[in-house]
Amino acid sequence: MTSYQQAYQKLERFGQLHVLKYYEQLTDRKKEELLAQIMATDFSVLSSKKQQGNQAAQRGVIEPLAAMELDEIRRRQEEFTQIGLDAIRACKVGAVLLAGGMGTRLGSDDPKGMYDIGLTRPVYIFERIIRNTLDVVERSGAWIPFFIMTSDKNHQATTTFFAEHDYFGYNREYIFFFQQEMAPASDYDGKVYMEEKGKISTSPNGNGGWFVSMEKSGVGDKMRSLGVEWLNVFAVDNVLQRIADPCFVGAVIAENRASGSKVVRKAAPDEKVGVMCLEDGRPSIVEYYELTEELMNARNEKGQPAYNFGAILNYLFRVKDLEEIVNNSLPLHVVEKKIPHLDENGILIRPEEPNGFKYEQLVLDMIHELESCLPYEVVREKEFAPIKNRTGIDSVESARKLLEGNGVTL
Ligand code: UTP
Repeated sequence: MTSYQQAYQKLERFGQLHVLKYYEQLTDRKKEELLAQIMATDFSVLSSKKQQGNQAAQRGVIEPLAAMELDEIRRRQEEFTQIGLDAIRACKVGAVLLAGGMGTRLGSDDPKGMYDIGLTRPVYIFERIIRNTLDVVERSGAWIPFFIMTSDKNHQATTTFFAEHDYFGYNREYIFFFQQEMAPASDYDGKVYMEEKGKISTSPNGNGGWFVSMEKSGVGDKMRSLGVEWLNVFAVDNVLQRIADPCFVGAVIAENRASGSKVVRKAAPDEKVGVMCLEDGRPSIVEYYELTEELMNARNEKGQPAYNFGAILNYLFRVKDLEEIVNNSLPLHVVEKKIPHLDENGILIRPEEPNGFKYEQLVLDMIHELESCLPYEVVREKEFAPIKNRTGIDSVESARKLLEGNGVTL
């Protein structure tokens, strides 16, 4: 069978034959590229829309999961910090920056980390993240292996930017880039969009595939050869977060948990953050829209709100536990997005409003695969300044205020 016939059959099976609409107009090279992309694409995700609808209703039994709160952390700070610093000095702790997202809400074409939040001088998001990590490098006297996940859409721009800025003072030998996988993007009927006549629209497949991608790229072997046993995984957009925080690392090790999650106390019962809980006896995160009235108002034995700690996307994972779950498939989340695509006349459209779905796996679902998790409370004003939007909530504006409140000159 020719490769065209193979691709044709695959598309037919998934109801996607429109992908070949412009095939005859393509150059030989473009034809080959399109056939290769068809064979490499996982079209099965497109039918997940229905599955996900059911999943939302199929939550297990939700119970509270106690967080380690600030008073206990303060009391045991020295003990935890020592354990954490020892692990960092033994190169047992690596950092994983999730920077494969598209940052569409921020509305810049560049990778989000290249965004300049400075006022009187350039202060790039990537620079803040590296600066925060360097604090721990300086304190421990050891380089922390620093892994950066990019995607097909931003890899070149990200690596070039880091090189141009001399890695913001980080040791190049301890920085490792790897790329995440892509997933097709579709219209509301599950038909994939085309971004060029010879190219299916794709978008990064969510931040949940980071460990699989790390392994596939070979960076996982590098990580093990350095002796890394714990990975601190975090989002690119929280410019205040502490990375490889020795006290957090030490607390998770001391409590012998498979994972840890930094959390903040909710500002209000209906605040829009995913909260830590137990689901069918395993750690889990319920999204704010899944919290029933009853859960929102539930109290623990101390009389405090039982689901009161929101995850801020800063996790610590024990590598050997990740290796055990690496083949488990995570749920797929179907997200409505604006997807640039060719219209029926072959003209590229950049929609102003959402026009279809992206298919994503999320890192928060990994928590539920693991045996245990330590929710670890941090002070919101000191460690949580996410940049999702240009203005308003979780924006460049709000993050600037928080940075200045913490003594950072912008
Ligand atoms: P967000 O959920 O904020 O998504 O990502 P995003 O794509 O960056 O932004 P919007 O929604 O389009 O505005 C949270 C973190 O996960 C990373 C992001 O880079 C960010 O650090 N991420 C997200 C990935 O690494 N890969 C993905 O496929 C999605």
